[in-house]
Amino acid sequence: MSNDPYGDRGNKDWSVGNAKGQGSIMPKASGKTHPAPGGPFLIGDCMTAGYGAGPDILHDCTIAVDRGEIAVIVGPNGAGKSTGMKAVFGMLDMRKGNVRLDGEDITGLSPQDRVAKGMGFVPQTSNIFTSMTVEENLEMGAFIRRDDFRDTMAQVYDLFPILKEKRLQAAGELSGGQRQQVAVGRALMTQPKVLMLDEPTAGVSPIVMDELFDRIIEVARTGIPILMVEQNARQALEIADKGYVLVQGRNAFTGTGKELLADPEVRKSFLGG
Ligand SMILES: Nc1ncnc2c1ncn2[C@@H]1O[C@H](COP(=O)(O)OP(=O)(O)OP(=O)(O)O)[C@@H](O)[C@H]1O
Ligand SMILES: [Mg+2]
Repeated sequence: MSNDPYGDRGNKDWSVGNAKGQGSIMPKASGKTHPAPGGPFLIGDCMTAGYGAGPDILHDCTIAVDRGEIAVIVGPNGAGKSTGMKAVFGMLDMRKGNVRLDGEDITGLSPQDRVAKGMGFVPQTSNIFTSMTVEENLEMGAFIRRDDFRDTMAQVYDLFPILKEKRLQAAGELSGGQRQQVAVGRALMTQPKVLMLDEPTAGVSPIVMDELFDRIIEVARTGIPILMVEQNARQALEIADKGYVLVQGRNAFTGTGKELLADPEVRKSFLGG
């Protein structure tokens, strides 16, 4: 393996997407990529927010993802990465700023309404139902759908074959990496137009981390933009089209994954040199 396994992954190369021809997890008629008229596909723009009546945690913070891209948020513990994700998903009251999806201001919508609009979110903690089986978890993910979701479930099983094998097992009995697959699979069951992942590789071995990143790239290649928080900053920036370094609730550095990996300040402070 080279030092930069994803460096030439050709994120705009749609020909490699869906290589097995199994049908996309995307809703049909995904069409070509084209920039949203109002800017990025999903953006939390200049967000200032905190919990309840507590102090501001986010200060004019902006995170976004474009069509066909993977955007990665990194930064120290307590920097506000999860808070930023929760703000974009509508779990906090915003004091300033707004959230736009495909050009539409959705700042006032509940998380449920955002799911209906096409947002999928895998939170950092409590992201599966441990006492339910793998398959029940996926079924729960499809809660907003009134149509037949068996095809989507088959696509999730194609993406994560181990889940098919373990579909009748309680999700809580699975390994850390497998649980994260359940969580991502659950979010895919709504056929999201954009997927938000908060630390999808938390607590897994480097090999499992690589595998999860490969699957995440595969999802991105089906046409679902991905906005993801990662503690494995270096590896995540290697697969990122866009990267955000957050510090104390503020944007400290923003650039392409490559730019951030090459930035001496970012390297010294956040990537261990
Ligand atoms: N539910 C909550 N109520 C009040 N304050 C909170 C809550 N969740 C987080 N905070 C505070 O918000 C700040 C940012 O936390 P957040 O979880 O967003 O950081 P993070 O960057 O995701 O950290 P980590 O890398 O540890 O996941 C911290 O000071 C934290 O104590
Ligand atoms: Mg967090």
